[in-house]
Amino acid sequence: MARYNDIDMEKWQRYSEINTDTLWIIDKRDNSGVHSGNYHGNFVPQIPFQLFSRYTKKGDWILDPFMGSGTSLIEAQRMGRNSIGIDLQESVVKEADSRIRSEAKPDCKTQVFAGDSSSLNMEALLDSIGVKKYQFVIFHPPYWDIIKFSDNPNDLSNAESLELFLKGFGRVIDNTTKFLEKYRYCAVVIGDKYANSQVVPLGFYCMNLFMEKGFLLKAILVKNFGDTKGKANQQGIWRYRALASDFYIFKHEYIFVFKKTK
Ligand SMILES: C[S@@+](CC[C@H](N)C(=O)[O-])C[C@H]1O[C@@H](n2cnc3c(N)ncnc32)[C@H](O)[C@@H]1O
Repeated sequence: MARYNDIDMEKWQRYSEINTDTLWIIDKRDNSGVHSGNYHGNFVPQIPFQLFSRYTKKGDWILDPFMGSGTSLIEAQRMGRNSIGIDLQESVVKEADSRIRSEAKPDCKTQVFAGDSSSLNMEALLDSIGVKKYQFVIFHPPYWDIIKFSDNPNDLSNAESLELFLKGFGRVIDNTTKFLEKYRYCAVVIGDKYANSQVVPLGFYCMNLFMEKGFLLKAILVKNFGDTKGKANQQGIWRYRALASDFYIFKHEYIFVFKKTK
């Protein structure tokens, strides 16, 4: 079978920057070039870097249906991959696009679209840019309602219940993975939440969603995260609350990797 990355196994000892363990401790965000950590709810560029290194080749097409500030598209471009980004918020897409273009590479194509990833006509979208299939999909959906991204009712962060969040995310998976090449990979980055005195294991619910749809689970990766902007300087209060009660403070999120075999 054709390889799905550019790793040269004759030089395997040279790839020390590429993770092969399931625990990802990333201490510092890569803020180089046009990467911007200002978008509330972004992920660190090291996540797409790691995933694209393992699961894509130069010249492949990557889809990010929740592109936000465009972190994955910037990484893709730097790594010689073509990419497509979609986000519901037009202003967010426009802002990201201008940053991405200021680092453009002549041999890489990056296309962005504003729209709802659960209902956009992906066939027409791909036709409009002359692409048949993509070779990787990176999903970084809202962690349900932890951060409200917009007032748009189709925004997954506005789902009124867990069931509706999962249904909506399921529609995005169906709509987008139709055009993921067979035997290639996709990944979802997601964390859990706490509500009504109990853990809502969003990560595992989403993992199940992919498995129910027939994707092969290839990895459950655990990544650390530091304090969010909202919680910075409040470590004391949170530690006090945790000690006085029965919960633990979330310091990790998940990256699930799946292979499409059907
Ligand atoms: C967790 S953020 C992604 C952040 C991104 N990885 C980054 O580094 O900036 C989730 C994004 O999903 C978008 N979103 C929510 N529902 C959507 C939908 N149905 N279709 C497309 N985008 C959606 C939000 O506007 C938000 O920008």
